[in-house]
Amino acid sequence: MKTDNLIITGARIITPLGFKARKGKEMNELYDDVGTIEITEGKITYVGADRPSLPDGYKVIHAKGKVVLPGFVDSHTHLVFGGFRPDEFIWRLNGDTYMSILQRGGGILSTVKATQETSAKLLRNKAEWFINTMSRMGVTTVEGKSGYGLDRDTELKQLEVMQAINFDPIRKVDIVTTFLGAHAVPTAYKGREEEYIDFLIKEMLPLVKRRMLAENCDVFCEDGVFTVEQSRRLLKAAQEMGFGAKIHADEIVSFGGAELAGELHALSADHLLHASDAGIHALADNNVVATLLPLTAFTLHEPYARGREMIDSGCAVALATDLNPGSCCSGSIPLTFALACIYMHLTVAEAITALTLNGAAAVNRADTIGSIEVGKYGDVVLLDAETPNVLPYYTGMNTVALTVKRGRIVSRRR
Ligand code: NIG
Ligand code: FE
Repeated sequence: MKTDNLIITGARIITPLGFKARKGKEMNELYDDVGTIEITEGKITYVGADRPSLPDGYKVIHAKGKVVLPGFVDSHTHLVFGGFRPDEFIWRLNGDTYMSILQRGGGILSTVKATQETSAKLLRNKAEWFINTMSRMGVTTVEGKSGYGLDRDTELKQLEVMQAINFDPIRKVDIVTTFLGAHAVPTAYKGREEEYIDFLIKEMLPLVKRRMLAENCDVFCEDGVFTVEQSRRLLKAAQEMGFGAKIHADEIVSFGGAELAGELHALSADHLLHASDAGIHALADNNVVATLLPLTAFTLHEPYARGREMIDSGCAVALATDLNPGSCCSGSIPLTFALACIYMHLTVAEAITALTLNGAAAVNRADTIGSIEVGKYGDVVLLDAETPNVLPYYTGMNTVALTVKRGRIVSRRR
């Protein structure tokens, strides 16, 4: 990837510290000091007090009075898909439910049809439109899932689109890819869910592994989709093949997904709107990142996940957008931040940790991104503000002035 040499001076540097997720009270502790960040060939080589002179060969940004944060990591998205579902959104406003639309063959299954019919080129153009928008909001790494194919070729097509973006040397974000073949039961397998899980384990996972198309495996573990037992079987097999495990857990009803994530020592359990007390403790005890997606609760008009209680119980919480064409067609980092503070009662410091280091941990990247520390990649964000409190205060509005990816300015506010 193309990298650059960059120095940012006089900035208020605010970052969590460390190379793994921060849990419980640690989420509120941030490094916060005025000084210089030096990025050499894309990696951070100095963080500390301003120095009397600057070395040659670096672009310099004077950032007096501005906040610099680590680049945001959006650790849960479904950003490659065909079509859109605005009509469904209106049906829900009129009282229809997310699950009844899916059970009628709409919802995820209608995006599956559209994705099967859309060319890789068009899928890529659409995904890149989202990526450009997210980059302007400070995102430097995004997780992307398959799951809108549910057949061999279309699942591969989605993953290949993400891989192609990752091969672009001037990309604005890195995509961490997740295989979500178990996103819904395909129509052809209705009533034969076990056979579909067999197909995923025997054919798809080995193929995806061989072609190095995904690092993680995810499942929609939900009443009416995949059972806890089916999810366990799939994820155990995936872990044995070297995939990280992620779970769409307890999104619509309390179903035991968080408990399963704890049992499997998954990388993350995501959504958790209806996670039980036992589930929350299982996440804390087993170092599973609790990935909360407040935009989805907002757009589905559902109660928010118990973020405050999760942190107070010792969990590592991450925040992500869940960008997808159905339950949440938004990749808004500013709104995610504000909802987390207003409705889940996270502090600004906790929300920063959740969108940076803990997001990185949720995609198994905490060793290389997620904080501003020597040795990590030079992925940072400059806010057009003196205080990070603007992040929830400018509700839903973008306060990012510059986004830097490996030392290169990739987005700039005009
Ligand atoms: O995270 N719940 C499952 N998957 C997505 C929604 C996908 C869709 O509706 O297209 C979610 O909410
Ligand atoms: Fe999702």
